[in-house]
Amino acid sequence: MSSLILNRKHFITKAVQSGALLGAPALLQACSTPGRLQGTARDPLDNSRENGLREPILQAINCGITAPNPHNVQPWKLKLLSDASALLYIDESRLLLETDPPTRQIHIGQGTFLEHVRLGMLQAGYRTQITLFPQGTYPLSQTGNKPVAKIELDLASDSGPANRKQSQKDALLYDAIADRLTDRTEYAGALLSLAEFQQLQSLVGASHSSLVFINQKEQMSRLHDLFYQAMVIECLNEKTYDESRVWFRYNDQEIYHYRDGISLRANGMGALMRFLVGFFMSQSKADWHDRSNIDVYLQSFQEVVRSSRAYLLLQTSANTQVDWVQTGYDYARVQLALTAMGFKMHPLSQILQEYKQMNGLKSRFNREVGGLPFTQMAVRIGRSSFDYKSPRRPVRDFLVT
Ligand SMILES: Cc1cc2nc3c(=O)[nH]c(=O)nc-3n(C[C@H](O)[C@H](O)[C@H](O)COP(=O)(O)O)c2cc1C
Repeated sequence: MSSLILNRKHFITKAVQSGALLGAPALLQACSTPGRLQGTARDPLDNSRENGLREPILQAINCGITAPNPHNVQPWKLKLLSDASALLYIDESRLLLETDPPTRQIHIGQGTFLEHVRLGMLQAGYRTQITLFPQGTYPLSQTGNKPVAKIELDLASDSGPANRKQSQKDALLYDAIADRLTDRTEYAGALLSLAEFQQLQSLVGASHSSLVFINQKEQMSRLHDLFYQAMVIECLNEKTYDESRVWFRYNDQEIYHYRDGISLRANGMGALMRFLVGFFMSQSKADWHDRSNIDVYLQSFQEVVRSSRAYLLLQTSANTQVDWVQTGYDYARVQLALTAMGFKMHPLSQILQEYKQMNGLKSRFNREVGGLPFTQMAVRIGRSSFDYKSPRRPVRDFLVT
């Protein structure tokens, strides 16, 4: 039996090495999947109409949930105040406390939600007023009890040429929402240029965090290695790696039942390989933590990282809850702007995480990149034809009384 398992693992390893595991977007696309939101319309406002969401605040939430968020846990809950206002809270049942002990990344995911709300409602003709932490910031133990933001929607009035110019850029970013996705596959083509970075900055506009662009080959190669080493630490630390297992959806049935979490599909694995891995691997905890399975994953991750065509960091001078949420605004805008420009991106958060096994490597990373003291997001950028939209739960699932 064990030699059979070994042979199966050997087979999977070989398949990965020969490129069958990753880089099969054509095969993936051949097996078409439902979209991100329930129903057929990809545009979140059209989708709201399709799903009978008439109240502006429900349309706003339908825009917000399309945002990127850690492990696709969708850590949002909303208390409606009226047809046009609500309080946004973190859903404390959806935290990632092993890899995100201070809830920094979960707060970044609140900022991404709010920015998608703002862009969506601007498109629908509303100005969104966001009051951050209306009852003050809070200790970890109060997460989910106090709101992250109060959201108020007002019908917008036209406000001068400068704002109109900004609105045009915001409209472009809104249009990118339907296409945006996290792309964890290998990238191809030329390195990104400084001119492309400047175009990105112009589309993003004023940002709270400072954007640091890295396209220099020698430095990128040092970063490839650091990001890879960080993933090794995460995978070999049972508690942090197990957190991914909890949120892992093994097949399409699970993906579209839970409509959250991570999966082989979202990782870029083609249909044939998904079938084979599903056939050969059990869903046991032991198989998840099996060293040879981890090594297969790490090897493919290393290839993916090495194919990066630039890195981008979002850095801040302070590290408060407000910094985290505002970095989320920037992250959402960066990803939408890159999407509008035809690029893809993929965060590599392991090296930024706040648990003791990562401390040494994080210090090396900070010395390597310099700049402001707190790197809130580190992402790889490039081009690929991968297209898969990870699903979101229906709007009513986010409402609390
Ligand atoms: C704060 C934050 C950290 C993230 N870190 C990672 C990461 O380290 N690796 C990764 O593959 N995706 C990361 N993501 C992307 C999410 O996994 C992704 O947004 C989520 O699964 C939903 O998928 P989508 O972006 O394709 O809609 C991160 C997203 C956010 C907002």
